[in-house]
Amino acid sequence: AGDIAYGTGEGRGRKAPEELRSHQWYGTDGLRSFSHRARTRQLGYLPEEHLGKPVIAVLNTWSDINPCHVHLRDRAQAVKRGVWQAGGFPLEFPVSTLSETFQKPTPMLYRNLLAMETEELLRSYPVDGAVLLGGCDKSTPALLMGAASVDLPTIFVPAGPMLPGHWRNEVLGSGTDMWKYWDEKRAGLIGDCELAELESGLARSPGHCMTMGTASTLTAAAETLGVTMPGASSIPAVDSGHDRMAAASGLRIVDLVHQDLRLSRLLTREAYEDAVAAVLALGGSTNAVIHLIAMAGRSQVALSLDDFDRIARTVPVLANLRPGGRHLMEDFHFAGGLPAFLSRLTDVLHLDRPTVAHPTLRAQLDGVRVHNDDVIRPRTNPLADEGGVAVLRGNLCPDGAVIKHIAAEPHLLKHTGPAVVFDDYRTMQRTIDDPELGITPHHVLVLRNAGPLGGPGMPEYGMLPIPEYLLKQGVRDMVRLSDARMSGTSYGACVLHIAPESYVGGPLALVRTGDAISLDVAARSLQLDVSEEELARRRAAWTPPPQRYTRGYGALYQEQITQADTGCDFAFLAAAGDVPDPYAG
Ligand code: FES
Ligand code: MG
Repeated sequence: AGDIAYGTGEGRGRKAPEELRSHQWYGTDGLRSFSHRARTRQLGYLPEEHLGKPVIAVLNTWSDINPCHVHLRDRAQAVKRGVWQAGGFPLEFPVSTLSETFQKPTPMLYRNLLAMETEELLRSYPVDGAVLLGGCDKSTPALLMGAASVDLPTIFVPAGPMLPGHWRNEVLGSGTDMWKYWDEKRAGLIGDCELAELESGLARSPGHCMTMGTASTLTAAAETLGVTMPGASSIPAVDSGHDRMAAASGLRIVDLVHQDLRLSRLLTREAYEDAVAAVLALGGSTNAVIHLIAMAGRSQVALSLDDFDRIARTVPVLANLRPGGRHLMEDFHFAGGLPAFLSRLTDVLHLDRPTVAHPTLRAQLDGVRVHNDDVIRPRTNPLADEGGVAVLRGNLCPDGAVIKHIAAEPHLLKHTGPAVVFDDYRTMQRTIDDPELGITPHHVLVLRNAGPLGGPGMPEYGMLPIPEYLLKQGVRDMVRLSDARMSGTSYGACVLHIAPESYVGGPLALVRTGDAISLDVAARSLQLDVSEEELARRRAAWTPPPQRYTRGYGALYQEQITQADTGCDFAFLAAAGDVPDPYAG
């Protein structure tokens, strides 16, 4: 893959100093403005270095605890380099990090907190434009949700995928192969020695997961939305091209401020529909359903589960990437990356909308080619004829549920079997391997109390473990249901995001072990085969669980979180309406 052709913004007008938002802080005649200038001297800057120049906030989710973002400290320097070269004044803001691996109970609990932090930092400081650095799963939607609510000129710098994993001459995918080899260990096929080697081979460099998991899915969505430099989302985190992309983003954001190209010009209904199409054609993570709905909500675009199902029927899966396919993100990058991928979907995309780099997506994709037809399939040879995610309806999920059917064993996509119900994750962990439960491959495993409130934070428990004794018999997939999410690197016949969740009394709360459950993906249906009268009796006997938090962030979360089908944003953040700019004088 060669270098990316960046827009340069030549020949466009520049804003006069007093037209900049930051002028309120720096350029007016009052005492405050004098104080802001004095404090900028205290920071060590000359007046010539910043007065009258666009102030660019570089929001950095770097942290020592986040291996996916550990290189972003350096990348922020490259962004600043670009901003300076273009005549802007960069200021780096550390913001909280959402590490998919380390943060408990799940970083999903904190996505909206980072979104709030992003929004309020950009609003309360002298900022004219923003560059957002992130990529580990929830970081991308969190940063963009917050930025969309402020609506300044903004560029997203995706953290980039880590290098491919390696073990004993085998290429490994982070996440995906972790699940796979853990099952091999549970089945007794590998031991501690192999496991220790795998520990060093699964994740070999800084960067986010290099399968088409949640991170790669969401950064690809960001690129499709037009808020990254073209081709940015697949550049490996440790490739020198990643530094150059960061510098180019810094150069470009200054242009965007002068052009006043705000996020709201980019994040339109058409852009979100294109992001949905891209995610589905990538065979991307089911988490994208929740995040894109939440992001669209911040742009006042009403994106729904039905949009996903409708668009899924119009796009094939073309990316041959794990967990659904074979290759990894580096292969995708060398095949031409997202621009090449999108060039095979031009008939379903809205090509006349702008991006941060080009006046139209059409111009951005002009002359782009695919370099490997096995990684990015031609339309005549798709991985699947329809997009990777189906939306299910039925008496068990009145507000919907999703399944990534392309990552499931086909014989399970139409299946009726008796339920085995687990009331919570710990009980399931403790008892799943107990042969007393008598679970057969025919059973339907049900986990509840794992939704937005019940989890809390909708943990990625959705790929319920298969009992060890069935693994040993060679069983690798079963129908599994929950109100949880599933890691983008997971796979299997897992029905997810059941809404409303069981914790708030959704029908999932009423299922009993032995009830027959019918899944029919082609018919988009999920049914609990229990009579309405019996369900009414069970509903009358159901008592809501006690509230979990009496104070702190959890209490706010508990009060404000919305259900999966509407994106799990906080109601007060998703609400329409303007927030006044602060008076800085
Ligand atoms: Fe960060 Fe997978 S753990 S992207
Ligand atoms: Mg993940």
